Amino acid sequence: MAAQTVGNTTGPTADSTPVDLGPAVALSCRECGHRVPLGPVFACEECFGPLEIAYDFSAYDTEELRKRIEAGPANIWRYAPLLPVPADVADKPNINPGWTKLVQADNLARELGVDAGKLFVKDDSGNPTHSFKDRVVAQAIEAARAFHFTTLSCSSTGNLAGAVGAAAARAGFRSCVFIPHDLEQGKIVMAAIYGGELVGIEGNYDDVNRFCSELIGDPVGEGWGFVNVNLRPYYAEGSKTLAYEICEQLGWRIPDQLVVPIASGSQLTKIDKGLQELIKLGLVEDRPYKIFGAQAEGCSPVSAAYKAGHDVVRPQKPNTIAKSLAIGNPADGPYVLDIARRTGGAVEDVTDEQVVDAIGLLARTEGIFAETAGGVTVGVAKKLIESGLLDPTLTTVVLNTGDGLKTLDAVAGTGLTATIRPNLESFREAGLV
Ligand SMILES: Cc1ncc(COP(=O)(O)O)c(C=O)c1O
Ligand SMILES: [Zn+2]
Repeated sequence: MAAQTVGNTTGPTADSTPVDLGPAVALSCRECGHRVPLGPVFACEECFGPLEIAYDFSAYDTEELRKRIEAGPANIWRYAPLLPVPADVADKPNINPGWTKLVQADNLARELGVDAGKLFVKDDSGNPTHSFKDRVVAQAIEAARAFHFTTLSCSSTGNLAGAVGAAAARAGFRSCVFIPHDLEQGKIVMAAIYGGELVGIEGNYDDVNRFCSELIGDPVGEGWGFVNVNLRPYYAEGSKTLAYEICEQLGWRIPDQLVVPIASGSQLTKIDKGLQELIKLGLVEDRPYKIFGAQAEGCSPVSAAYKAGHDVVRPQKPNTIAKSLAIGNPADGPYVLDIARRTGGAVEDVTDEQVVDAIGLLARTEGIFAETAGGVTVGVAKKLIESGLLDPTLTTVVLNTGDGLKTLDAVAGTGLTATIRPNLESFREAGLV
């Protein structure tokens, strides 16, 4: 994404009126540390580096905070004290994502040669629009309220479009979202059904994203909150809740290894940020963990850079069935490389065939029907175990971030075992008994 400041083009908060976003106090540049007041901006005016949320958590007592979280609602708002949202957010109309299942995957563990009780799948297909994107949109929508936007928008590989559509409908925003025109039917219907505008762009995700950057700088897009562009610092924080939930569900313990999908890389970087915050707040023990990134071979710019030992991610033209991860020029790619290397993890990729196999494997062993992104993480976990990079004796969490019902084409060969006439003779003839 081309870096550009947008504060002077977004209207309502150009006067930098203070806003109430709970413990969030400023935006801070990831590169140079320069701080600016909270507002709908995403790039540093000094160095064009990405901005992220800076918090003041100094008033929190660890045990009081833990009790407050545990007594909170069974959704992401239990972590409101750690998010850029006002204290009363749980009372507002939103779709309340999160607190999805952490499934102990002993059958899958057996297949993959992992010790019993050590493998878990964080199944985020259980969110309201069936992907982890509900978490990030829930944050962006609070920022949009604070900055008085009335239209929500985004560039999307599919899941985000659905999440924005649903959240906007519930919260009373207009929505107008942009996707590559040739996405899976399940993703298109899921994004359109909520009544907002859905625009297909002739091009891939990177073309869609470039178009949205242009729109932001144009009077046409004035007053629009683009959840993953000018609201990106707020949006991105939603992924921290995955880290919080995983640790709380493991009894306030950091897993030894996590396998996380990469599209823009935002989710992976914020999972790391969430784990670091829990350590600093004393909510979990400070112990080493490894984060592994997962891509599809047909769109593997971060994996390629990792394997080549590069710090810079060279853009690729995506060609994979894992369309939700098909970002050829990932904004957070370099940060993902840092995290994989710093934690002792890795970035790996799998072929489309391995993605399909992994979708089937997870379904057969654990009863979880993942979308292609889940096929990527399970496939990568398998590959990392085989290559010895992932330790099968340690606690490992593999993320499934979306629902297989949205990517039925990927498993189109799956179907009836037999077709018979409605009598016993015909059933016997089918050779199933
Ligand atoms: C199902 C699913 N998983 C993971 C991702 C990766 O998200 P990120 O851009 O934060 O890396 C996406 C992005 O669209 C997605 O749709
Ligand atoms: Zn900067």
